[in-house]
Amino acid sequence: MNSPSLSGWLVATLLGLGGSAHAAGTPALKDIFQDHFLVGTAINRAIATGTGFRRTPVQVSNDVALVKAQFNHLVAENDMKWALIHPRPGPDGYDFGPADAFVSFGQTHGMDLAGHTLVWHSQTPDWVFAGTHPPPQAAHASPASTADTAAGRTNAAVQRGPGRGFGGPGRGPYAGPRASREELLERMREHIHTVVGRYKDRIRVWDVVNEAVADGGTNILRNSLWLEIVGPDFIAKAFAFAHEADPKAILRYNDYGLENPAKRRKLITLIRSLQEQKVPVHAIGSQAHLNVSITFETMDQTLTELATLGLPIHITELDVNSAVGGQRGFGAEVADNAATTQGGLVSEADRRLADAYAGIFRAFLKHRQHVEMVTFWGVNDANSWRAQGRPLLFDRDGQPKPAFDAVVAVLRESLSPDRP
Ligand code: GLA
Repeated sequence: MNSPSLSGWLVATLLGLGGSAHAAGTPALKDIFQDHFLVGTAINRAIATGTGFRRTPVQVSNDVALVKAQFNHLVAENDMKWALIHPRPGPDGYDFGPADAFVSFGQTHGMDLAGHTLVWHSQTPDWVFAGTHPPPQAAHASPASTADTAAGRTNAAVQRGPGRGFGGPGRGPYAGPRASREELLERMREHIHTVVGRYKDRIRVWDVVNEAVADGGTNILRNSLWLEIVGPDFIAKAFAFAHEADPKAILRYNDYGLENPAKRRKLITLIRSLQEQKVPVHAIGSQAHLNVSITFETMDQTLTELATLGLPIHITELDVNSAVGGQRGFGAEVADNAATTQGGLVSEADRRLADAYAGIFRAFLKHRQHVEMVTFWGVNDANSWRAQGRPLLFDRDGQPKPAFDAVVAVLRESLSPDRP
């Protein structure tokens, strides 16, 4: 896509005015990137329903206004995960309310929608895996059984305690008697048909399988109950069921840490093998939970290699941890450090965040033929799961940060006639 179709006001805003992006009002990300890719955000239940419990009603309504002003694509941060949408077995096992509210919010505001996520080792209730077959001896008996899944993450801030790698957050995997392969596949089929079928023609893109690739070691796939009970074809089966349920939906494989060359190689091997088996995988989701050490070069290389798969690339969960808390001066009194952290070092963190965002957006623009959407994992710092790291373009009050200006400047640069 090319820039000439950008509307006149936009070019005037970005080129003519120069200086602060806010001089003529804050430009909208969805507008300034409209010829290149969709710009999305994950939203939580408070935003989808307009009723907050951690934010005041005024804050929630400001968050909603920011979503409407800036973004044209949405994903539910949590409400379509198995544990939330389908917490119990049996005919009354689904809780569709919050997911319905998300879809209705998106439709009301004319947003493109993604569903997240159908098959994942985490945030999946125990009943899904439960049955009458004794678990293999010594399986998951020691923390070592999860080591492969937690080790090797390039993004330290994403690391979490036991359970993240295998079971749900904060606890180990389900360790009781298990379902058979056939039972688990039937539960997967029923879940995917019900959820995808319910939102057919309303949700355009689905994260079908989330985070199946192992971080460390030589195995391609992480250990999980899906892998142990069904076998490696659980991935192909999930895509086949989703395709049956909505043949028009864009089906995505979604994972994190693809900036790490070793993990990326595994991802590419996995996707090539799915393609050889004619599995309907239509897009690569790269979560992109990053740190400020990320560079243009790393993202450029990542996207260059992912593009060899011949599939659209969706940046699905973008945030960049600026780790302000870790940036204290050396040799001074603790009290002085605390004061400094509120002043100079915070703005230093802002600058590093702006540089990191500028680098990755330069790479997104360079690869715009392949990058179809860039979705942030949260609307502003107040709503982020990594709130301490202030990882987004808007601050807790929804005001654009220096990183926002940097992203606008990258777009402006790309419109400059001097640039190739
Ligand atoms: C992964 C998942 C997201 C979210 C984040 C943060 O990236 O795909 O749904 O849970 O972890 O928790």
